[in-house]
Amino acid sequence: MEKTFLMVKPDGVRRGLIGEVIGRLERKGLKIEAMKMMVIEENLAKEHYEAHNDKPFFGELIEFIISGPVVAMIVSGREAVSVARKMMGATDPSQAEPGSIRGDFATLMSENIIHGSDSKESAEREIKLFFG
Ligand code: RTP
Ligand code: MG
Repeated sequence: MEKTFLMVKPDGVRRGLIGEVIGRLERKGLKIEAMKMMVIEENLAKEHYEAHNDKPFFGELIEFIISGPVVAMIVSGREAVSVARKMMGATDPSQAEPGSIRGDFATLMSENIIHGSDSKESAEREIKLFFG
């Protein structure tokens, strides 16, 4: 079974959407293999989002992701990486389809509820970063 790394971001936790997100994943048939609530250290945040370190929004992205607790998860299932990305919806919630997590619960690009690995390689890297 394929594994992916998912995370309810600080806005999702603040808004009380942990159960909503996890419920959707479980009802889809994905399996929660590991889960922890944590406040991400700045260094880990920078490593996690290192692909974006030259982007104009990098500083804001790091500030946001360390702004409160997140719920980090290893999730498994058939084609888990792409299945989870579809369930998340587009990065910009204003473009995300209704029925997707971002489409149903967010409007702001900077506060889009959930992170999910964008490839099998990212999943492997992010699982190591967060769960050793
Ligand atoms: P994520 O990594 O958080 O799961 O989101 P994603 O793959 O859908 O999007 P990605 O391109 O990896 O961007 C990471 C996060 O940075 C913020 N962002 N802002 N202002 C902008 O143009 C912009 N682009 C990206 C978003 O919060 C996005 O989730
Ligand atoms: Mg990404």
